[in-house]
Amino acid sequence: SIRFDSRMYREDITGSMAHAAMLGAQHILPSADADAIIDALQGILDDLDSGALAIDPACEDIHMFVEQVLTARIGDLGKKLHTARSRNDQVALDLRLYLKDEIAALQSLVLAVISSLHAQASAHKDTIMPGYTHLQRAQPITFGQQLLAYAMMLERDYGRLADAGRRMDASPIGCCALAGTTYPTDRVFEAQKLGFSAICENSLDGVSDRDFCVELMSACALIMMHLSRLSEELILWSSWEFQFIELDSGFTTGSSIMPQKKNPDMAELCRGKTGRVYGDLIALLTTLKGLPLAYNKDMQEDKEAVFDCVDTTKLCLQIMAPMLATMKAKPENMLLAAQKGFINATDLADYLTKKGVPFRSAYKISGQLVAYCIAHDTVLEQLPLETYKTYSDVFEDDLYIEISLKTCVARRISAGGTGPASVQAQLDSVAAFLAAHQ
Ligand code: ARG
Repeated sequence: SIRFDSRMYREDITGSMAHAAMLGAQHILPSADADAIIDALQGILDDLDSGALAIDPACEDIHMFVEQVLTARIGDLGKKLHTARSRNDQVALDLRLYLKDEIAALQSLVLAVISSLHAQASAHKDTIMPGYTHLQRAQPITFGQQLLAYAMMLERDYGRLADAGRRMDASPIGCCALAGTTYPTDRVFEAQKLGFSAICENSLDGVSDRDFCVELMSACALIMMHLSRLSEELILWSSWEFQFIELDSGFTTGSSIMPQKKNPDMAELCRGKTGRVYGDLIALLTTLKGLPLAYNKDMQEDKEAVFDCVDTTKLCLQIMAPMLATMKAKPENMLLAAQKGFINATDLADYLTKKGVPFRSAYKISGQLVAYCIAHDTVLEQLPLETYKTYSDVFEDDLYIEISLKTCVARRISAGGTGPASVQAQLDSVAAFLAAHQ
């Protein structure tokens, strides 16, 4: 596994330094020996960091490699480090240490995407667009409201990462191969030295638990599902049929043969890579499902899946934040699409009803006007008053305010709705979330 577990060399060495310190503090090793081991480990870490020492691909795994270099450097003393531990608890420790940092990195990338969404949403809190159900124009909303929906999803993702981090925060080191050890170790000392707030309470569970990988991967799968849905909208909105947005050319490509094309490759890749992340999650769940306690070599398969899952999710989050920040909205086209959906036909009927026309008749007149607009390729807002008058003489100039999309949006005053006060409240809440987590 050296090919893929060598990326945990830092965690492996840090873990070994804490282990040596514990062996010294518990007088399992003379403290001079422990100190010499710690110094040599620090030297190995520095040399790997600087590139002075290269990973030997012939070693079985990163744990064997570090021990081999240590023994080459300080002789037999290096062989004492592995007292009262096993590679089984060591690899479980390394992985937890490594993934704890990855959770923090994922969280800050999630915040960056939320922040891009917030900036665009606040620039477009009054930009009217059609809201869709069944991908059919349904009711007028603001572009800000639509983008804030994604900010809410990502806030939950942030919370799920934090939850995964909380349960990952227990140290398996000292569980040894499976049953603990006869040495008088101090697992709490070691856990604290490594920044864990607890120890795994059952040694069999400690070495065979990979729930923390599955939980993190599930959180990644949900992040990717959200990025994929957003990507799908970006792809649709930037199509010639919609023309609601334009993606910056840094995130699109041209076609080699069709000069008119601007392909939304990055959004498509985010959508495509979602399948890959789901695959990683299912691969690990499947690997784990039949394993008896405690460690089995099958578990070595965990790392490629979890690393790929985290790497891919980070990559997509990294792309999404600037892609959203540089996206240009086209409010005129959004408005036109909202008008062409006749999503204010009900408001027109209500207008007539308020002027004393019975609702059934009002509904019919309204429908006839929509049919007229379709036949003449126009919209209700643009029909002249004379035309309205040919359908009913109660129509007056005030009808235009009643059916304006702005009025329709402004009237959606319920909490969470698309009305201006509610969108502002959502913007404030997302800003507060960002401020609390920066
Ligand atoms: N390379 C191994 C892994 O990734 C480390 C643990 C090996 N333990 C063992 N008993 N062979 O899981």
